[in-house]
Amino acid sequence: NFMSKRIIAVLPGDGIGEEVTAEAVRVIEKLNAATDAGFECVHVPVGGTAYDLHGTPLPEDTLSTARDANAILLGAVGGPKWESAPRELRPERALLGLRSELSLFSNLRPAILYPELADASTLKPEVVSGLDIMIVRELTGGIYFGGPRGIETVDGQRRGFNTMEYTESEIKRIAHSAFRAAMQRDKRLCSVDKANVLEVSELWREVVTKISSEYPQVELSHMYVDNACMQLVRAPKQFDVILTTNMFGDILSDAASMLTGSIGMLPSASLNADGKGMYEPVHGSAPDIAGQGIANPLATILSVAMMLRYTFTENAMADKIEAAVQRVLANGLRTADLAREGETPVTTSEMGQAVLDELV
Ligand code: NAI
Ligand code: MG
Repeated sequence: NFMSKRIIAVLPGDGIGEEVTAEAVRVIEKLNAATDAGFECVHVPVGGTAYDLHGTPLPEDTLSTARDANAILLGAVGGPKWESAPRELRPERALLGLRSELSLFSNLRPAILYPELADASTLKPEVVSGLDIMIVRELTGGIYFGGPRGIETVDGQRRGFNTMEYTESEIKRIAHSAFRAAMQRDKRLCSVDKANVLEVSELWREVVTKISSEYPQVELSHMYVDNACMQLVRAPKQFDVILTTNMFGDILSDAASMLTGSIGMLPSASLNADGKGMYEPVHGSAPDIAGQGIANPLATILSVAMMLRYTFTENAMADKIEAAVQRVLANGLRTADLAREGETPVTTSEMGQAVLDELV
């Protein structure tokens, strides 16, 4: 077995971020106790919490701890308390900083509908039952990072502008991520772009098509992003892996996540070229319920499962966590976001404890 240290930087962040990461850390500690996994969790502040302590949402010590760790577990950042902070010191800036500093270019966002939660989706059961999609979103390029960008005054009128750009190598590396993901799954990959309008998409499509020859078992298709939005809502089960750019992936993955009913169930991974990753729930800091101990910790616990799979290649442990979550749901436990009319919801720590109890 792999005996050197396996450091996990834990960045709880703000609001429910602290509450849900506490439950995920308990899962990691249980794995430590039950096996020779030997994970070591190092806690550091991020987001508004770090801003209050150190005047910046991403202190140097937090960044270096994250850089030195094998993996990062992040809760969530942000909240009304910091809305008036200067734009470059907003809690959310820490996320962009971590992603770009650590080159976490590959964002994997599964959208899975657990059969026990079939009634939680707003879509008809026959449209979403059995849904299991993986969205692979490019995370460190495209219009969110391209330049020139800004707001300028031209002839007495202000003009805002951003630049969508991708180099061939940026497209290649995210395409390889997506094809590898497809190889582990149903071997169908749909690349989403806007090649009928954008030159950057033209290049994207050409490069992805070229890379596909290295993965002959994977069936590649292309779709325009507007149609992809329609298809996600009309017939989402046609998709297996979706590969797309930073901005299109931001929008598509939020739409896909809602097919499954609760944002409290959805994990994510952001990986670099060496398999290092940052793992976090898709949801934010939920200021409306923070401090009440009622947040759903399952998205963060499922993010630990992704960490075990993608960074530590401990697939059996990852399977166990996912199976424990499924049994807890099958036993009828529901946090407030999942509870049906008349059902008494469990608290964050009761849900966390139930997963620990099922984790054998
Ligand atoms: P949000 O995801 O925090 O909350 C949206 C709604 O979902 C709220 O009603 C909330 O109570 C509920 N919710 C979210 N997670 C839940 C959970 N685990 N269990 C039960 N209910 C849950 O999104 P919102 O309200 O737009 O943003 C709040 C703050 O979080 C903002 O400051 C935003 O910038 C930040 N944010 C941070 C993210 C991150 O750290 N990755 C991602 C999204 C938002
Ligand atoms: Mg988003």
